[in-house]
Amino acid sequence: VVLVVDFGAQYAQLIARRVREARIYSEIVPSTMPVEEMLAKNPKAIILSGGPSSVYEEGAPSLDRALFEAGVPIFGMCYGFQLMAIKLGGTVDNTGAREYGRTALAVSKNASTLFEGTPAEQQVWMSHGDACSAAPEGFTVTASTDVVPVAAFENDEKKLYGVQYHPEVMHSTHGQQVLEHFLYRGAGIEPNWTMGNIIEEQVAAIRERVGSKRAICGLSGGVDSAVAAALVQKAIGDQLTCVYVDHGLMRKGETEQVEKDFVAATGVQLKVVDASERFLDALAGVSDPEQKRKIIGREFIRVFEQAQAEIVAEADPGEPVEFLVQGTLYPDIVESGGGTGTANIKSHHNVGGLPEDLEFQLIEPLRQLFKDEVRMVGSELGLPDEIVQRQPFPGPGLGIRIVGEVTKERLDLLREADAIAREELTAAGLDRDIWQCPVVLLADVRSVGVQGDGRTYGHPIVLRPVSSEDAMTADWTRMPYDVLGRISTRITNEVNDVNRVVLDVTSKPPGTIEWE
Ligand code: XMP
Repeated sequence: VVLVVDFGAQYAQLIARRVREARIYSEIVPSTMPVEEMLAKNPKAIILSGGPSSVYEEGAPSLDRALFEAGVPIFGMCYGFQLMAIKLGGTVDNTGAREYGRTALAVSKNASTLFEGTPAEQQVWMSHGDACSAAPEGFTVTASTDVVPVAAFENDEKKLYGVQYHPEVMHSTHGQQVLEHFLYRGAGIEPNWTMGNIIEEQVAAIRERVGSKRAICGLSGGVDSAVAAALVQKAIGDQLTCVYVDHGLMRKGETEQVEKDFVAATGVQLKVVDASERFLDALAGVSDPEQKRKIIGREFIRVFEQAQAEIVAEADPGEPVEFLVQGTLYPDIVESGGGTGTANIKSHHNVGGLPEDLEFQLIEPLRQLFKDEVRMVGSELGLPDEIVQRQPFPGPGLGIRIVGEVTKERLDLLREADAIAREELTAAGLDRDIWQCPVVLLADVRSVGVQGDGRTYGHPIVLRPVSSEDAMTADWTRMPYDVLGRISTRITNEVNDVNRVVLDVTSKPPGTIEWE
C-alpha cells in the first residue's frame, strides 16, 4: 500500500486517484495519525499532500521527524514539500510572494529521478504563499520558478522527494509522469494493482467473514448497490438475499431491469417488493418537496424492515442473517468526515441505503473505491452496461420530479416523457457527456397550445441536462439543438396532456440539479 497523508482540503483524494491510475493501491490517512501507526501499515511509499495552511501558522498540521528516518520512500507535494524542507533542516520563508495558478517550471539539467525524460520547461499548477529558499542538506535542487528558487528537490539515497507544485492536478502537464517516476523508480513499486485484484481480495475476505451465515442487501437499481451485491454474491452465493423495493416512482423499465438483467448477470436471490400503492397512498395530497422526501424515506424503511423480517423468519435457524451489504463508496466516507455546519438544502434519502438502527454488521466492499472504479469492478463482474454505466437517479425517484402532487396518472405521463428523452439521448451518443438529465413534470402549470386544429391546455415538461463531476456543482449541458428538437417533437406528439417542452438553462448554484 501507498499511504497518502492528508493535510486538508481536497488534494489527498485526487492524489490517491492518481496513484491508483498508476496501478498501485493507495489509502488516505489523516496527518494526525501517529507515525508508528502509519508505519505499522507497512507502506511501500508515503505521499504528503498539499493543504490550506502555512507551515508557520499556529496549529498548522505537522509530522514527527521520525517518519523521514524510517527508510520509507516519501514524496512531499506543496504543503508536504515545505514540511519536509523545514523538518529536515531546509529553509522556508514567508516571503509574501504568492504564486498561484499555471506557472512555468524550469527543470535543472542534473539527472533527476522525478523529472527524467520530461521537458526542461513544463507547466505546473502552483498554489502557495511560503517558499523554500534552501533545500535540506544532502538534497539536490531539481527545479525552480521565477518566484521560488527551490521548486523541487530530491535525496535519491534516502529516497526522499518533493515538489512545490501540485503534480496531481491536470494543469501540471507532466504531473502523472513525475508521480509515476516516484512510485516506480524512486520507491521501486511494481504497478500490478487491478480491478481483478480487488475482486479476488474482497471475495476471499467476505467469504471468511460471513462463514456459513447469511447476508441481505437493499438494491436500489443504482450502480453502487448493484456492484456491491454482485461482489458479495460472487463470494457467498445463495447466502445473500437482495431486496428491491419498488416504490412506484421508478422510471420506465427500471424494475424490470433489476429483475431481469441483474439476476441474469449474477444469479442473485432477489426479493422484489411491490409497494407502489402504499407509497402513492402516503403521498396523496402532498406537494411540498421536503414533506414528499420525508414520506418516501420513511415508507421505504418500513417496507425494507418488513421484507428483512420475512427473510430472517424464512432463513434456516442454523444460519442467522447477520450481515447487511451496502454500496458505500470512498467519497461517501470522506465526505461524512466533514461537512459540519452546512445548510440543509434538501433531505437526501439514499433510498436503497438503509436505516442506521438495523441490527446488522455491515459489509461495505466498495468503501475504498471511487465511482469510476466501481463501474470497472461491475464490468469485470459481468454486469451489463445498462446497470454499470447508469447515470445517477435519486432515491425518491420521480416523486421529486413532479412539481405538485404525485399521482399514478402523473407518474405514468412523466415515465413516458422520460423514456423518450432517455432514448433520444442514448441514440445521440450523449449518455457519457451528460451527467444526468432529469425530466420534470410541472403538474400544477398549464399553458395553451394548438395541436391538429384544436386548442390544447396541457402541462409543460422540463428537460434538465447537466454536466458535473460530483453533483456538488453543475452546469447546464449545451446540447445539440437537433437532439433537443427531436425530444421535444416526440414528447409533445406521443405524451398525452403535454403540449410544451422547455429547457432548464440554470447552473448549480443557484439551481439544484433536481427541481425538488
Ligand atoms: P441536487 O438536486 O441536490 O442533486 O442538486 C444532486 C445529486 O443528488 C441526486 N439526488 C439524490 N440522490 N437521494 C439520492 O440518492 C436523494 O434524495 C437525492 N436528491 C438528489 C440528484 O439526482 C443529483 O445527482
